[in-house]
Amino acid sequence: MLIRKAELKDAADLAKIKCDTWKASYKHIIDADTLQKEMQIAAHEKKFANQLESSDKNSVYFVAENERNEVLGYILLLTKTDNSRDDEGSFIGKTLKSMQVGSALLSAIYVLPQEQGKGIGRALLDYAKSFCRNKGITEIFCECFAENQSGMKFHLKNGAEIIGVEKGETFDKPYDGYKLKWEI
Ligand SMILES: CC(C)(COP(=O)(O)OP(=O)(O)OC[C@H]1O[C@@H](n2cnc3c(N)ncnc32)[C@H](O)[C@@H]1OP(=O)(O)O)[C@@H](O)C(=O)NCCC(=O)NCCS
Repeated sequence: MLIRKAELKDAADLAKIKCDTWKASYKHIIDADTLQKEMQIAAHEKKFANQLESSDKNSVYFVAENERNEVLGYILLLTKTDNSRDDEGSFIGKTLKSMQVGSALLSAIYVLPQEQGKGIGRALLDYAKSFCRNKGITEIFCECFAENQSGMKFHLKNGAEIIGVEKGETFDKPYDGYKLKWEI
C-alpha cells in the first residue's frame, strides 16, 4: 500500500470514494433522497479537480493506492502553522481562522466500502500524523457524526479522545457531532 499526495488525475477516484462511502456508511444518518441528490460523482469530481488544481497551501489530500495503482481511500487535512492567512471569505480561510497555530483539522477520511477493515484507514491516519509532526503540528482535531458508531470506534481505537459534543448542520439538517483530538 502506497500513501502519496493526491494529484489532479485522482479527482475521479476521490469523487467515487466519497459518494460510495457516504451512500454506504451514512444511510442510517442521512435520508436516501438527500444522499441520492448530493452524492453525484460527476459534480464531486469537478469540485475535487478545482481543489487539487488550486493546490491551497493549507490543505492537503493523501491517497492510499494498491499495487495495481487503484486508489482505495483518502484523507484531507487542513494545517495551520502560522497566522499568515486572512482570507476569511473562503471556506478554508474561515476554518483556519478558528484554529490554533500548530494544529490540524482532519476534515475527511474515507475508504471504499469493500476495502474497509484492511488497515487502509489506519495507514492514512498514521501518514497524516507523521506529516503533521514534521510541520511542527502537535494536535489534530476532527468532528464525527455522533451516530457514526463505526467511524467513532475507528477514531477511538486509533488514539483520539473525545473533547466535546457539538451541534452541526449538514445539507441543511441538524446533527450531533463529537469533537475529537489526537495529541501527536
Ligand atoms: C472509518 C474508516 C476511515 C476506517 O478505515 P478502515 O480502513 O476501515 O480501518 P482500518 O482497517 O485501518 O482499522 C484500523 C483499526 O481500527 C479498528 N476499526 C476500524 N473500524 C472499526 C469499527 N467499525 N469497529 C471497531 N473497530 C474498528 C480496526 O479493528 C483496526 O484495529 P485493529 O488493527 O487493532 O483491529 C473507514 O471504515 C470508512 O471510510 N468509514 C466510513 C466513513 C467514515 O466513517 N469516516 C470517518 C468520518 S469522521
